[in-house]
Amino acid sequence: MKTTILSILAMLCVVAASAQPTNVQVKKYGAEPLRFSTVEEWESVHRPVIYNFFQKEVYGYMPTRQVPMSYKELCSGPALGGKAIRKQVSIRLEGMATPILVLMYMPANADGPVPAFLGMNFKGNHQIVDDPAIIISENAPKGKELGEDPTRGAAASRWPLDMIIDAGYAVVTIYRGDVDPDFDDGFKNGIHPSFYAKGQTAPEAHEWGTIGAWAWSLSRVMDYLETDPAIDTKKVAVIGHSRLGKTSLWAGATDPRFAIVISNDSGCGGAALSIRKHGETVGAINKSFPHWFCDNYNKYSNNEEALFVDQQGLIALIAPRPVYVASATLDDWADPEGEFLSAVAASPVYELYGLKGLTGKKMPKPDSPILGGHVAYHIRTGKHDINSYDWEQYIKFANFHFGR
Ligand code: GCU
Repeated sequence: MKTTILSILAMLCVVAASAQPTNVQVKKYGAEPLRFSTVEEWESVHRPVIYNFFQKEVYGYMPTRQVPMSYKELCSGPALGGKAIRKQVSIRLEGMATPILVLMYMPANADGPVPAFLGMNFKGNHQIVDDPAIIISENAPKGKELGEDPTRGAAASRWPLDMIIDAGYAVVTIYRGDVDPDFDDGFKNGIHPSFYAKGQTAPEAHEWGTIGAWAWSLSRVMDYLETDPAIDTKKVAVIGHSRLGKTSLWAGATDPRFAIVISNDSGCGGAALSIRKHGETVGAINKSFPHWFCDNYNKYSNNEEALFVDQQGLIALIAPRPVYVASATLDDWADPEGEFLSAVAASPVYELYGLKGLTGKKMPKPDSPILGGHVAYHIRTGKHDINSYDWEQYIKFANFHFGR
């Protein structure tokens, strides 16, 4: 009997092994459109290779070690004139001096779990809306003398809460500085030290930098959301602007629980193709922000030709989940055309799944979004920013994919 079970198991292993396409050669993808023969070939051969490249050479591996974490609901109550419920939760990680403060606004009239947009904010939860009940993080900028504006609601134009709540979505946000400060501190503060091995004082060349840490923390917020019955965690869109758009793409690539991924003006190291060297280059970004990527990424400074795969690979890692890439006309630094071409070059992977990508599409005119498929794109008139025009498109996209 035992022998029969073993031989059945052995046979199953052979079948599983032979399901792998053995004749597929992996060679450098560069910035080429990612065209493969089958979903199976993509998932078993190319996706793992591309994923490993981004982990090892770009954003750095996230830790595999578990660190004890706890959540605490701090307060909850009516907000936005009664149309929303505001909830604040702290996430504590062992080894971190301060908690990650999660701010949530949920439609008050919901009759069940609601879909949500989850994203980081730049300067503190209290800046997304002028609401005196929002707890100000100890890590938030404190004074104008630092060149920062500590005012409540200072970033409200980036978070059109009324529009989002009226559309039936929750907004969930955390402040980037609660996770890792955005300067080159040698990874002494923030989340990294909690994960160091004995005697370690900085991440290794292949280990996570700040963007990796930010993306990882969005997954930890998702862990919390999975315990909160108010949120429909099958319908969470991860969103970010600029450096936080690079972060939302990496969060989407690393965590399949994010059902939609939105990159707003993410540019170099985000959606834009690096090989074009238009606007910000890999060398420039590594010089100005040495903490964002892993140290291995320095190999590609002024050496973009050596990239095994360009940023279209990052977008493709999100497939088959819907992805939205957006640009702005005055944002030459982020290379709008490079962002569009990257979304186009990732599209064949979506098309392998029988989904609508952007293959064959031309760069659209300003303010003419290409919606309705699984890879969406728009270029908005105006500067590097995220505003209600952008959000309007993201809500339409989410409504379409969440069947609302
Ligand atoms: C700088 C940086 C960009 C980044 C942007 C931002 O401009 O060079 O890479 O996207 O800041 O986060 O606003």
